[in-house]
Amino acid sequence: MSGFSSDWLRLREAADHRSRNTELAETLSARFALRDEIAVTDIGCGTGSNLRGTYSLLPIKQTWTLVDYDADLLQAARSELSNWADQAQSDGITLHLKKDRFEIDVQFRQADLAADLDAALGSKADLITAAAFFDLASEDFIRKFAKAVAQRKAVFYTVLTYNGISRWQPHHPTDNQIASAFHRHQRSDKGFGPSAGPTAPLHLSDQFKLAEYCVQEGDSPWHLESRDSALIDELQSGHARAVAETGVLDPKTIESWASLKRTGMTVGHTDTLAFPT
Ligand SMILES: C[S@@+](CC[C@H](N)C(=O)[O-])C[C@H]1O[C@@H](n2cnc3c(N)ncnc32)[C@H](O)[C@@H]1O
Repeated sequence: MSGFSSDWLRLREAADHRSRNTELAETLSARFALRDEIAVTDIGCGTGSNLRGTYSLLPIKQTWTLVDYDADLLQAARSELSNWADQAQSDGITLHLKKDRFEIDVQFRQADLAADLDAALGSKADLITAAAFFDLASEDFIRKFAKAVAQRKAVFYTVLTYNGISRWQPHHPTDNQIASAFHRHQRSDKGFGPSAGPTAPLHLSDQFKLAEYCVQEGDSPWHLESRDSALIDELQSGHARAVAETGVLDPKTIESWASLKRTGMTVGHTDTLAFPT
């Protein structure tokens, strides 16, 4: 168990997909436009949301390797992708999907990225991708990861890395205190050493430039409103839990903050695209 439930990942998927940076998505699509097929590795895949959000940008024949260390999430990915596709067939190892005009073969790899990155990435990928993942990783992991991607001469594309912006509507007088305690929690160890948290986009950009990649970035904020009320409520209680764990604010302050009903929220994210020069 990773601590990320499939219910939470399902709840955020629509907002994730509509928030992706369009310009970067178009550049990715143009990069592979002349090809008929592509091999993709998606790290920290959860239930497969990144595949569902990215496939339409890529060549018609796709082979995906979905990597996660959580066996339950990989199982959920298998079943959610089968339900999402127009046709799905499994030979026991590979899940063969047809969606619109696309043919997508999917394999699942249970691996801990922090323990053995090379084994987790495997040897062959034209594109290595991730969604909502890198703020969990440490600066050190990002350095090793950029080198590993460059060794494979793969294109890198990640979406929805938290960049530190959070604004609640309506405003509560302790929003700023809560935000700084939340960022402290964000920097705690999530299995990779101290997490990069909101500085992850910066480290990704620096490390891929050092690897002589051309790097493009774009904003992909969540603009949440009344239609997203379930997601806003879950974010608010998740923030309150995380802040309580830090012990830096007294429980009454957290309780008062959590009791104000919010009707909107902006969460800043950055998408990053990097390709070998
Ligand atoms: C925030 S979730 C994002 C899931 C998915 N990419 C999405 O957009 O819905 C982070 C994912 O990273 C996975 N993860 C975290 N640490 C990991 C590690 N050390 N090795 C492999 N997967 C990991 C979790 O299990 C989880 O599925």
